[in-house]
Amino acid sequence: MAIKKRSKRVNVLVESVHPFSDAQQRRLFEKIKEILGSNKVQIQFALNPDLLGGLTVKINDQLLDLSHVGFLGQFQREMESYKTGTQDLRKMEMLFQSQIQSFMPIPDLTEVGHVLSVSDGVARVSGLDALMAGECVRFSRGMTGMALNLNANTTDVLLFEKADVLQEGDHAFATHKMNTIPVGFSLLGRVLNPLGDPLDNKESFVNLDRYPIFAPAPGIVDRDKVRTPLHTGIKAIDSLVPIGRGQRELIIGDRQTGKTTLILDTILSQRYHNEKVTDLKDKVFCVYVAIGQKQSTVRDVMRILQENGAMDYTVIVSASASSNAVMQYLAPYAGCAIGEYFRDHGMHAVVFYDDLSKHAVAYREMSLLLKRPSGREAYPGDVFYLHSKLLERAAQLSSQIGGGSLTAIPVVETLEGDVSAYIPTNVISITDGQIYLDSTLFHQGVRPAVNVGLSVSRVGSAAQNKAMKQLAGSLKLELSQYREVLSFAQLASDLDSTTQKLLSHGTRLTEVMKQRPYHPLTVAQELLSLFVGVKGYLDDLSPEQISDFLSGLLKQVKLQETALMLTLEKGNLTEETILKLDTLIRNYIEHRQEKM
Ligand SMILES: Nc1ncnc2c1ncn2[C@@H]1O[C@H](COP(=O)(O)OP(=O)(O)OP(=O)(O)O)[C@@H](O)[C@H]1O
Ligand SMILES: [Mg+2]
Repeated sequence: MAIKKRSKRVNVLVESVHPFSDAQQRRLFEKIKEILGSNKVQIQFALNPDLLGGLTVKINDQLLDLSHVGFLGQFQREMESYKTGTQDLRKMEMLFQSQIQSFMPIPDLTEVGHVLSVSDGVARVSGLDALMAGECVRFSRGMTGMALNLNANTTDVLLFEKADVLQEGDHAFATHKMNTIPVGFSLLGRVLNPLGDPLDNKESFVNLDRYPIFAPAPGIVDRDKVRTPLHTGIKAIDSLVPIGRGQRELIIGDRQTGKTTLILDTILSQRYHNEKVTDLKDKVFCVYVAIGQKQSTVRDVMRILQENGAMDYTVIVSASASSNAVMQYLAPYAGCAIGEYFRDHGMHAVVFYDDLSKHAVAYREMSLLLKRPSGREAYPGDVFYLHSKLLERAAQLSSQIGGGSLTAIPVVETLEGDVSAYIPTNVISITDGQIYLDSTLFHQGVRPAVNVGLSVSRVGSAAQNKAMKQLAGSLKLELSQYREVLSFAQLASDLDSTTQKLLSHGTRLTEVMKQRPYHPLTVAQELLSLFVGVKGYLDDLSPEQISDFLSGLLKQVKLQETALMLTLEKGNLTEETILKLDTLIRNYIEHRQEKM
């Protein structure tokens, strides 16, 4: 027996600014029944002054928008992607006028949902059955949000902005789009938020390529091994924990231990490199992502980069402490997408996430608002996935697909040096190594406060230059011997001469590793400083004299020995170079003594 299909009732709601007469209502009713081809139509008429003019017809969960507000919204969206190409105000006015005159509103039929409730920046929406998780949702009052919890009959949408304006009963529309961000060279030198809106009072980003914020990581076949060094200009890092392009290296440490300063030095150091090379494919572009930082800190970062000419190749993505949790959650993914543009076009980029602890806190806040169950340290269970899907996007691509690279340098803040907390252990396990900044060392004046024992780079040494590797080998050994002897030398009163020598050499090496902020060194300068330290030329000096000695030497060499510096720059430490360096350093020492 065939089952008779139950025909569905159609609910129609007509909203207008002015009331319709009875005759008009009847005519409209007949017309709608005819169009829908159904007799089971229930029609309602309502007044809505917010429409400004015209009318809307809602048929079940489809909305035919013929209102003035709807047309204005259409015009606004069209104008958002309009580029005038001129700075002249009169010309702009004329262009806008012609744009307004030629605008033709298109009555569009869209699926519509309803806001059931709004609280703490989360809107619960009914309808919109085909929404995808992570899809952008637009509201009738102009704001947007992201669909996150897909429940049986409703969806929870986290609002990006203006959550206090949204009201129960407002319309919500599916955009069928995931979040994207503008990318490309026009972004260099700019500061933007994770939605792609400028934060620097300059022109907005129009007519640019857009990349999805949540892109998948490159596959195994598309990757190559890390093979080119990423020079940071910091002696302690380039020698002991070298970073390669495409690597993921974590900077971890307590608050105020110089984490952001390491990042800034690394960005500044790329200037030496970028000025030397002419091909865009050899340059290194930087993306600094500030998550939950004070606005004054982001401003300082921008100022330092500007003063040192580093904004030319840098983009800043900022979701500061005053931004809501969703913005802070999106920020690193947006920054990563900007970096991916360079990676996918055969170029090189480094993206710095400052910092992922605050990112995890923002995600926890979001998850609690969405009433997701919490786990260890009250973080939601998928916080590991949150960071792994971000950091996995860093890669050295194989030469078949352009050979570009994206290096990721995340920062994690620890409390009282506790690296075994949840977020630090997670991120340590995802990255290829960590630079551990020690607050005790920092307060002792060893700055940058890199703890050599706890810092490691698991892939970078494959990319390290040969001369640096040669010097770093003995440096590592001597520093670790020094640390070992130091711990028991504090207890012993009488030390034999070998131990004393080891201690005094170690103290001097530690001095060599110190470096002022915002003064990154070139490869040659680093090699020369390390050479002087490792080969014992400083053993007769007192530790206080060392920084003066080194800066004098570097200055002199820069002026007089350009050929030698060029050889060192290429990373060659042959017998002949060593001999030349030896004569040079001895001459400098003699000359210095004469002056004293
Ligand atoms: N190598 C250095 N030599 C001297 N001072 C330094 C050095 N590195 C950092 N500082 C100083 O230490 C202070 C803290 O540095 P920074 O802001 O980089 O630390 P942070 O770990 O990022 O701090 P926060 O936890 O607040 O983000 C700054 O005043 C900075 O100038
Ligand atoms: Mg910082």
